[in-house]
Amino acid sequence: MSIIMKQINKSFGEPPVNVLKNISGTIQDGEMVSIVGRSGSGKSTLLYIISSLDQPSSGEVIVDDVSISKIDQKELHRFRNQKMGFVFQFHHLLPELTALENVMMPTLKCPYDKNRKIFAHELLNEFGILDKADRLPSQLSGGEQQRVAIARALVMKPKFLFADEPTGNLDSANGQLVMNLFLRINKERATTIIYVTHDSLFAQMASRQIHLVDGKIVSKD
Ligand SMILES: Nc1ncnc2c1ncn2[C@@H]1O[C@H](COP(=O)(O)OP(=O)(O)O)[C@@H](O)[C@H]1O
Ligand SMILES: [Mg+2]
Repeated sequence: MSIIMKQINKSFGEPPVNVLKNISGTIQDGEMVSIVGRSGSGKSTLLYIISSLDQPSSGEVIVDDVSISKIDQKELHRFRNQKMGFVFQFHHLLPELTALENVMMPTLKCPYDKNRKIFAHELLNEFGILDKADRLPSQLSGGEQQRVAIARALVMKPKFLFADEPTGNLDSANGQLVMNLFLRINKERATTIIYVTHDSLFAQMASRQIHLVDGKIVSKD
């Protein structure tokens, strides 16, 4: 069992508006899960909470036997760096660094290990952009930038990959390419992947869908 959600509630503002309502469930190791629902239904909020980027107002999230809201910030940062990769709609690459340097960013927090650099090259090669390793993000297409961001998310060999609308800013061909990479990563590396999308075809590529309506899970398949 990898991620356990226990009666998660999340509210924002004063008076509080309840955005997630009593969400419970389990995501097993090696699953590929899509989170779907209308805009404003709470998809991003749920993803951020289960990936430790935000805290629930009440309830608990347990990842690999660790209650992530109960550990201190330093431990949490280490946990995240070792176990979790993140991909967002906008790639957030650093503009002054090359593609390869961007991919290597998460490794800078760890003792030097030449295998990391070899692995970063392998990822760029696998994603079809090794010949662009020395380019700046501005010299890459949107699809290539997103592939660099995915390589960066994977360079630490995380057990979990979280993605919020990873195809939201791409044309359909590049969106398909990103989804195919996700399928491959899930299959070949057994990475657990949880992604938000509002594209129903992309959502169906998951082994399971979590469907949110108004902050509640209405179906889990
Ligand atoms: N930081 C915040 N402060 C106040 N309201 C928020 C905040 N984040 C999200 N919300 C509200 O919570 C609801 C769900 O947001 P979100 O999880 O981003 O939805 P989705 O990703 O499904 O479009 C929305 O009504 C949104 O306005
Ligand atoms: Mg969202």
